[in-house]
Amino acid sequence: MIRTSYYQDLTKMNTFGMKVKARCFMEYDSVADLVDIEFEELARPVLHIGGGSNLLFTDDFKGTVLHSNIDFIEILEDGNCDTSERHCERSVAISTPVLVSVGAGVVFDDFCAWAAKEGLWGVENLSYIPGEVGASAVQNIGAYGVEVKDVIHKVYCYDTLEEEFVNFDVEECCYGYRDSIFKNSEFKGRYIVTHVVFTLSRDPRPVLDYGHLKTEIERCCEEHSSRHSEERSDVGILTPALIRKVIIKIRKEKLPEPSVVGSAGSFFKNPVISLEHFARIESAAKAEHGPDYKVPHYIIENQTLTPHGEDQLPSRHCEERSDVAISTTTVKVPAAWMIEQCGWKGRRSGGAAVWEKQPLVIVNYTGNAYPEEIIGLEKRIIASVKAKFGVDLHPEVEHV
Ligand code: EPU
Repeated sequence: MIRTSYYQDLTKMNTFGMKVKARCFMEYDSVADLVDIEFEELARPVLHIGGGSNLLFTDDFKGTVLHSNIDFIEILEDGNCDTSERHCERSVAISTPVLVSVGAGVVFDDFCAWAAKEGLWGVENLSYIPGEVGASAVQNIGAYGVEVKDVIHKVYCYDTLEEEFVNFDVEECCYGYRDSIFKNSEFKGRYIVTHVVFTLSRDPRPVLDYGHLKTEIERCCEEHSSRHSEERSDVGILTPALIRKVIIKIRKEKLPEPSVVGSAGSFFKNPVISLEHFARIESAAKAEHGPDYKVPHYIIENQTLTPHGEDQLPSRHCEERSDVAISTTTVKVPAAWMIEQCGWKGRRSGGAAVWEKQPLVIVNYTGNAYPEEIIGLEKRIIASVKAKFGVDLHPEVEHV
């Protein structure tokens, strides 16, 4: 079924809570409905939204907003690896892959909750990220050392130009940091994700290398064994459900609760700079804060991130890669650190503010912020980071 409304209030359909309207709003329930939509006839521009969790509406939307209600989670294959299938080649390390097909309109965290309940590994680190499954495959959402591309097998779409159903293997999606083929100018808006097939696993494959995660998990495991007066064995205790619980706790501690304070999560991407540029930033930081000061950063070589500058982060990968040529090296520096260093943490500007516990997030502090106030803050942050560090910050949030 397709439902169409005009001059639809979008306040509850964007997590920033911008009070804007769409000239035309269309919501559909099934893959088959897409065939009935006359894309050529729709008021332009056309914007397909998911949970509206990565958007900043800068004004009323003059065209058509589409939303998918395709809502199913289905196990396609459970541990039976048909060697004629490509996913078997990719998942050599997973002896019991479980292929799960999920509708684009499913709330991503509902999928994470379902997987945790089923005891399936793969998406537990992505728990509590706002948004829906279709958008997750466009945006390549990521958190705590996992990106959704790591568990995507295939993305199924409707091609609005050729009016046919197509699918993309994960390799064809050209995934990068919060990027995919679906975001590039040639394909943007052309393909509508209908469902995504994920490769999950019944075998434990925890990813715990990120920041405080390991420490928190260890604390939980200790608590669990003292409660059950058992000899400690993390292997038995570690489950997707436990990791999910810890991730949710960490996220709730530092990120605004979407239902209480409007935001679009990280507002900026973490910038990647040259090693030489990083050396200049580091020596200026040491001059400012003292010789022992460590600037948080992640060395990138061949798309692999190695955390540096934080005591709790592992150094295993650094040793493994000591022979890699320096010229291929770049450095990712947390935008949160730069924004904090520029004194923005917790600062307000009209209805907008920089979140105190994670300055990468701009919030609709009063619930009544105007888009201009958010954009004003964005511009001032970009200017001060440029002035202090010579680094260009780019928004992760899409402005529409
Ligand atoms: N930091 C500060 N000051 C702060 C907060 C952080 O200096 O007030 C520094 C610390 O060194 C910290 C580092 O920034 O260790 C990184 O912070 P965090 O672990 O919060 O990660 P992030 O790089 O700021 C990214 C994603 C988040 C994701 C987290 C955790 C982007 C743009 N954001 O943030 O994603 O939850 O990692 O994996 O890559 C989102 O996309 O909406 C989102 C929240």
